[in-house]
Amino acid sequence: MAPLYATISSSLVTLTLLVAIANSNAILVKFGYSGANGPDRWGCLSPQFALCSKGTRQSPINIIKNGAVFNPKLRPLKRDYVASNATLVDNGFNIELKFDDAVGNVIVDGKKYWLKQMHWHSPSEHTINGERFPMEIHMVHKSDDGNITVIAIFYKYGHPDPFLFQIKEKLAELNKEARRGDDEAQIPVGVVRTKAFKRRARKYFRYVGSLTTPPCTENVIWIILGKVREITKEQADALRAPLSKEYKNNSRPIQPLNGRSVELYDAYISKQT
Ligand SMILES: *[C@@H]1O[C@H](CO)[C@@H](O)[C@H](O)[C@H]1NC(C)=O
Ligand SMILES: *[C@@H]1O[C@H](CO)[C@@H](O)[C@H](O)[C@H]1NC(C)=O
Ligand SMILES: *[C@@H]1O[C@H](CO)[C@@H](O)[C@H](O)[C@H]1NC(C)=O
Repeated sequence: MAPLYATISSSLVTLTLLVAIANSNAILVKFGYSGANGPDRWGCLSPQFALCSKGTRQSPINIIKNGAVFNPKLRPLKRDYVASNATLVDNGFNIELKFDDAVGNVIVDGKKYWLKQMHWHSPSEHTINGERFPMEIHMVHKSDDGNITVIAIFYKYGHPDPFLFQIKEKLAELNKEARRGDDEAQIPVGVVRTKAFKRRARKYFRYVGSLTTPPCTENVIWIILGKVREITKEQADALRAPLSKEYKNNSRPIQPLNGRSVELYDAYISKQT
């Protein structure tokens, strides 16, 4: 009897273990940017991440300026944001500024997408004619029925970015918390002014892609502004400081276009036609 009992009990243990793993899969799967859990392995880290390898409309992409098709139907970006309370969050793989309440929206094809959060990648994920920038911000918007639009803006090194300037101290606090080993440190920031993101965009590129982190959800409308913002090296370093070494570079490699078109809005051409 003894051997049989041992078999049953050990398979029970195995079963319990498997259930435990399956239940925690969604949260515990750690994706990275190099090595065994790097971008080319994301798709096999979890069934929920399958699109990362099987998807055919993935992001980021390289935008070839001359390949972008001017679309006279694209409207000027109507962004309506107000000052709003926000929280800085260390996600481990990036730093996010999450808005507590309704901060505002952007209208795309007549539909409202609400700004939920913004986060940073370095170096940039999208490239323009193969050029990579030191940093890229993703402003993630969601419609009431769950569709996603992300407005992406590149940063190059230069003058201080006034938007980042206002969260400087809070970012330093977040860094301290992260150093204390707090994995998902959060710092309430108070009211953040959003005026910097309401300026008229003279030019933008638009295509349909995916989230650039697992689960790599598709059907995301990407709007990439033509105007590059400036940031100091210190500001960029402050945004990377709370992240551990393996996430300081949190840029997913360029994905194949697979026949997708990139559209161009250009206020100057629009005026001529
Ligand atoms: C931000 O939060 C504070 C404290 O909860 C509140 O008094 C204030 O009205 C909020 N401000 C905005 C712009 O939401
Ligand atoms: C919203 O998302 C659904 C499913 O992802 C998609 O079929 C639909 O075309 C999207 N709608 C818009 C307006 O993007
Ligand atoms: C960051 O990682 C990507 C691959 O994920 C690689 O292509 C790129 O060269 C790296 N950049 C830096 C600055 O290390």
